[in-house]
Amino acid sequence: MTGTAAPTQRDPLYDPLAPDVIADPYAVYRRLREHRRVYRHTQLRAWVLTGYAECRQVLGGTAAFGSDFRRMGEDIPDAQLSVQTLDPPDHGAIRHLLVSALHARSHTAVQDTAARLAADRTAGLLGVGRSVDLVSAFARPLALHTMCDFLGVTAPDGPWLEELSNAIVRSMDAGLEPSRAEPGTKAKAELSRLVSEWLENADEGGFIGAARVAHAQAPDVSEAVLANSLRGVLHAGYESVSRLVGNALARLVAEPTLLARAVAEDRLDALVNELLRLDGPVQAAARVCVADSEVGSERIRRGEEVVLMLGAADRDPEVFAAPDAVDLTRRKGIHLAFGRGAHACLGAGLASLQLRAVLAALHAAGIGFEPAGPAEYERTATLRGLRTLPVTVRGTASAR
Ligand code: HEM
Repeated sequence: MTGTAAPTQRDPLYDPLAPDVIADPYAVYRRLREHRRVYRHTQLRAWVLTGYAECRQVLGGTAAFGSDFRRMGEDIPDAQLSVQTLDPPDHGAIRHLLVSALHARSHTAVQDTAARLAADRTAGLLGVGRSVDLVSAFARPLALHTMCDFLGVTAPDGPWLEELSNAIVRSMDAGLEPSRAEPGTKAKAELSRLVSEWLENADEGGFIGAARVAHAQAPDVSEAVLANSLRGVLHAGYESVSRLVGNALARLVAEPTLLARAVAEDRLDALVNELLRLDGPVQAAARVCVADSEVGSERIRRGEEVVLMLGAADRDPEVFAAPDAVDLTRRKGIHLAFGRGAHACLGAGLASLQLRAVLAALHAAGIGFEPAGPAEYERTATLRGLRTLPVTVRGTASAR
């Protein structure tokens, strides 16, 4: 949530970083949607969209709603541009390059590695014999090692990466707390430097090496755009995936029979779909209006900012009956957890297969969890995820 903040002026209806909202934003989203689906937020000085149809309209309307804030005259240095900040037509070349690099890797090999790493981490849980934090001991190292294997690089030092990564996540809420902006910009530059080193050295077997090969055919893509985009991939693969896994595990802790039921009904993919819809890590995406538009009942003017609450859209009762419940028979693939349109997530397949691998590994090992303390969420609104999820682990016999 970037916005053009007036940090002292809290919004009367929606205070994204308030402790109760961090613990459960979905109740507030519902109230906001019932009040006004297109809501003028005081603190962000932006339109906040909580309805599915409205979010879809904006995601699909790149001509009127841009990710590239330079279209409204904002000064973004070339060194900070990436696939996420460019709009068509400039966006096409880097997006195409990344898609080519994705296709260079065998899907089966990626799937096998994700399954192996998930099974190894799961086996590690069985030996613990006391309470364990599923975030720091499971979700985060698993996401990091799966991502680095996919990229074809050695995993960076954990605490160093953690600090940079957290700074970037926190900076996504700079519209709410402006002091978060600068550390995030510095962290992005530092991670982009690491990625540039990888680009020089990585072998061609991984995604980074494949991107270097694809870059040779794409002279229009600058070194900075390539490095920043790959930094975004690293960050998404670590932060978004580990948060998705953590949020999903919290649901399994709260609903202990859910996984066994999904497997018994042969609906593991449906469970992945529902876990993404119900508590996806990317709660919000921002756009700037570049041509006056009608969205819902409001007229949005050129230059105004729009915040799409994807996590709210995915519980809109106009699209999802009984939206707060897991329904394994729901139509798949219509949620907005991966966005939609020109900027739709490039890693959707990879993220989904990782969560599926985790669920399959937990089931195969017959593992169940019991809460061993309160789950706590990070104080971040754009990316939602747990700081800690303490559990005790039950082995095969008692898990069913
Ligand atoms: C749980 C995991 C993930 C979630 C929920 C997620 C979600 C999203 C969303 C909502 C967007 C669209 C943002 C917008 O419209 O402004 C996006 C874009 C993107 N994602 Fe993901 N993502 C995840 C994992 C990944 C992974 C693993 C990768 C890389 C392998 C990845 C790469 C990207 C890239 C490159 C974009 C920008 C695409 C563009 O702007 O053209 N994501 N993601």
